[in-house]
Amino acid sequence: TTRWKIQENGRWNNQAIQEAAELLRRGEAVSFPTETVYGLGADATREEAVAKIFAAKGRPQDNPLIAHIAGREQLYQLVERPLPYVEKLLDAFAPGPLTLVLPSNGACAENVTAGLPTIGVRIPDHPVAYELLKACGLPVAAPSANLSGKPSPTTADHVWADLNGKIAGLLDGGPTGVGLESTVVDCTEEIPIILRPGGITREQLEKVIGKVMVDPALAGENDRPKAPGMKYRHYSPEVPLWLVKGNIQAIQDLIDREKQNGKRVGLLAGTALSGLLDADHKMELGENIAEIAANLYDGLRTFKEGDIDLIICEAFPEEGLGQAVMNRLKKAASDYVLLD
Ligand code: TXA
Ligand code: MG
Repeated sequence: TTRWKIQENGRWNNQAIQEAAELLRRGEAVSFPTETVYGLGADATREEAVAKIFAAKGRPQDNPLIAHIAGREQLYQLVERPLPYVEKLLDAFAPGPLTLVLPSNGACAENVTAGLPTIGVRIPDHPVAYELLKACGLPVAAPSANLSGKPSPTTADHVWADLNGKIAGLLDGGPTGVGLESTVVDCTEEIPIILRPGGITREQLEKVIGKVMVDPALAGENDRPKAPGMKYRHYSPEVPLWLVKGNIQAIQDLIDREKQNGKRVGLLAGTALSGLLDADHKMELGENIAEIAANLYDGLRTFKEGDIDLIICEAFPEEGLGQAVMNRLKKAASDYVLLD
């Protein structure tokens, strides 16, 4: 795996962009930063190039990929008959952390869409992603650049840890900004439907286009405490994570009880709560929900098997960006513990 730094001695490394673009044109898989998380890209028009993404990640074949493009003109080369509100969404949020699911015109390879009649398209808001997409001139299929099941990568080191030796290249553009994946919106119906909460909130979307629905599969999903031992195949840290809601004393009592059971307990929480609790290791996620989102995946990767036996993680209010944060945490958690 070739690893390029995008800033060398304070200078933009255009050579790296050109080399990475050339690898993409040759049908290789290359990781690059976006404003959300690092992506693992390949030429979306070539089946055998896209297959390298699935192989490197160990990703199930039935999970479709997002086609990344440099600008709006390219969108109309991939999709058919977008509904009128799609223009409004593009005006307001492109480039940005929003993926539009639209009727595919079949220009992308079949394994990008997993055989669906629709395709997810996104214009990322990151200078490295933009320059790379422009330089290669292709739609680039890209899932998050992590091993399937692990937390998404928000730094080049995360990508390196998961995929070194399995991909052709990695463009190191530093830490990503938003830190959570894009909002995925099904735009094939009169009223759009959020399939995955993300960097753009439902409130932001509704301000621009009016009513937006949320996939019923999201609401209710893992809302109640689950039977212990239930396994998740998403965003999973190396050690079990309990998502915990309750007053400070109740959370401290839970930590102390688990420590008495011989467990080394790691705490993942916002600055306020972190300062009030005592644990074997603490990872402070930040002062506000934007900081918490940006640091979340790094936090999930911080606690290593051998150092820590259990992660206790604060449950955050499910408003605004908190909806996306809690969506990921519920998938990462092996239990959701409601105290008091
Ligand atoms: O922020 C992001 O979206 C990042 C960066 C790299 O752009 N990408 C990303 O890709 O998160 P991935 O593959 O990890 O997640 C793509 C999500 C999946 O939940 C997938 O099921 C959904 O988008 N998706 C893609 N195409 C779809 C389609 N045609 N219909 C419904 N869902 C689709
Ligand atoms: Mg992913």
